[in-house]
Amino acid sequence: MGQRTVLCVVGARPNYMKMAPLYAALAASPRFSPRLIHTGQHYDPEMNEAFFEDLGMPRPDANLEVGSGSHAVQTAEVMKRFEPLLDEATDPVVLVVGDVNSTLACSLVATKKGVPVVHVEAGLRSGDRSMPEEINRILTDQISDLLFITERSATENLVREGIAPARIHFAGNVMIDSLRSNLARAIPPAETLAAAGFAAPGRFALSTLHRPANVDDPAILRPLLEALRTIGTDVPVIMPLHPRTRARIQAAGLDGLLAQPNILPIGPASYLSMLGLMASATMVLTDSGGIQEETTALGVPCLTLRDNTERPITIAEGTNTLVGREPARILAAAADVLATGGKRGRIPEYWDGHAAARVVAMMEQIL
Ligand code: UD1
Repeated sequence: MGQRTVLCVVGARPNYMKMAPLYAALAASPRFSPRLIHTGQHYDPEMNEAFFEDLGMPRPDANLEVGSGSHAVQTAEVMKRFEPLLDEATDPVVLVVGDVNSTLACSLVATKKGVPVVHVEAGLRSGDRSMPEEINRILTDQISDLLFITERSATENLVREGIAPARIHFAGNVMIDSLRSNLARAIPPAETLAAAGFAAPGRFALSTLHRPANVDDPAILRPLLEALRTIGTDVPVIMPLHPRTRARIQAAGLDGLLAQPNILPIGPASYLSMLGLMASATMVLTDSGGIQEETTALGVPCLTLRDNTERPITIAEGTNTLVGREPARILAAAADVLATGGKRGRIPEYWDGHAAARVVAMMEQIL
């Protein structure tokens, strides 16, 4: 039997650490020939090249260079530019990860051509349809042939939406494969901070914000930044800024809130820098999905600045606490972590560094 081409789609930063171990496992399989397709949804070098290098991923075989745009434009452009690549491929399968616009766009092109779609990190649901990712998750799962879940609660979500249990497989968390295999190479926080012109702190909090619901409206962004400034009076707060967040802060004239003695804004951190920062942080305050999982894997307390999470196992078993966006609640939770050391948690089932091997073994069996 010839090798099946697996088109491995990545588009945005949170896709790379999920795809890297899958790509490596596919390349080692006699059954599959992986091709790495970058849609170009993220394009800044610090959101891209830095990650490919850190993760040891090859350069993409193709870059669709779609860039930024409205959701409609971005999704449509990915679809238009992905179709010819799919038409050229021999006996293709499309592998998508996560929940970004590129995930949905490529799944939709594939399924309408009768090409099997494999979705890794399926079945997560926040229950909040105002999040663009939630729409991407629901629709991608509906049209995927093979759905690999990271936590068992995802099965209930999928079955409730009418997905046949036979299509659902529990393989564990591929992003944690990347974390485990790279942790020993993590860059010490002192080095990351020196590069940004800051002295090395002792204890520190780490904060990332980038969700539209938190950064797009100055009436929400300002009190969040003010809360971080207050936390900064107890412990330095390192803030790797997503380009979107930096732009919103500037547009809203809130730069002054970053220009505080104990607030250390740095550019987007590379993968190995971020691992080093997370692993050494006293606590993490974030609205990221992936960071909720990475802090659980590292045993570092995480305060999630959202009202919901699509990753409930990080709360039930891990180190995560939902604290919303109300400053008083955020400050109380942060003070509690500083006083008590915060939640400890345990490592969820199959977050063991071998998830990608399980996914590919199952793909070999089924496809
Ligand atoms: C996207 C994903 C989100 C993920 C996030 C991680 C969707 C719907 N959202 O959101 O799930 O958590 O990536 O980063 O797919 N920009 C740059 N340089 C870049 C990329 C973006 O400057 O390389 C700026 C642009 O101003 C752009 C804005 O960031 O308009 C938002 O980028 P976009 O890709 O639309 O969404 P993210 O917020 O990054």
